[in-house]
Amino acid sequence: MENSVINHLPTDFTTNRLHVFDDALKASDYVARQIAALIRRRQLEGREVVLGLATGSTPKGVYEELVRMHRYDGLSFENVITFNLDEYYPIEPHDEQSYTWFMNQYLFSHVNINPHNIHIPHVTGPENHVKNYCDEYENKIIAKGGIDLQLLGIGRNGHIGFNEPGSCFDSVTRLINLHPVTRNDAQVYFGGIENVPKQAVSIGMSTISQARNILLLALGPAKSEIIKQAIDGPITPDVPASILQSLPQAQYIFDKNAAALL
Ligand code: GLP
Repeated sequence: MENSVINHLPTDFTTNRLHVFDDALKASDYVARQIAALIRRRQLEGREVVLGLATGSTPKGVYEELVRMHRYDGLSFENVITFNLDEYYPIEPHDEQSYTWFMNQYLFSHVNINPHNIHIPHVTGPENHVKNYCDEYENKIIAKGGIDLQLLGIGRNGHIGFNEPGSCFDSVTRLINLHPVTRNDAQVYFGGIENVPKQAVSIGMSTISQARNILLLALGPAKSEIIKQAIDGPITPDVPASILQSLPQAQYIFDKNAAALL
């Protein structure tokens, strides 16, 4: 851990909320251990746990470690309920660029989670149908008692989930127009920007803010500039992740490259 070098931030913040690791593997293992500890704690209490899950390259190491714990350390997912942050619209669930495919590939098909407990905001049909679907998704989260632990990555424009710059802090699950930076960053997966969907469904800023624990994971030098803005800059919808500064239940987990400008 290298927090000692970040001396311009308040001590209670660097001690309690900021965790900087030498490399991506250590940072990802830390996050996986937090998730596994909560799952196990709830099992001892005979209770379910509601996880908010993220996609992208960032959480892959977390899922890899959780799968390893399932295989070799007896970590069971029987009591786990999941809600994913977002999904492209429109997209087919079997498309390799879909977050449905991603979650099956990197986590769900490798652990003993009950398929009925998995929720991903995939929706087809016209936009008026999408609005109802989004309301139902939000209501399902509420009906399950809210999110116990929300895992987040961050886009280079500061988005969390697909809450793009300008997203209101009181927003809930809804259809979103994707930002040019987001579509540009996604084109490598879609084989050209013309193939990247223009919209997505995402849970809202308010939905995320109500999670009882929030872990923002950022890895690599490409995230260092936006991490500086999100942590050191003003709290503003222009940088959606900046809202986490105001949420004491939010922790930041970085490798030293992502934290380089702090
Ligand atoms: C996508 C996802 C976000 C994710 C972001 C960063 O836009 N909707 O949830 O945090 O990408 O992706 P990566 O982790 O690949 O940098």
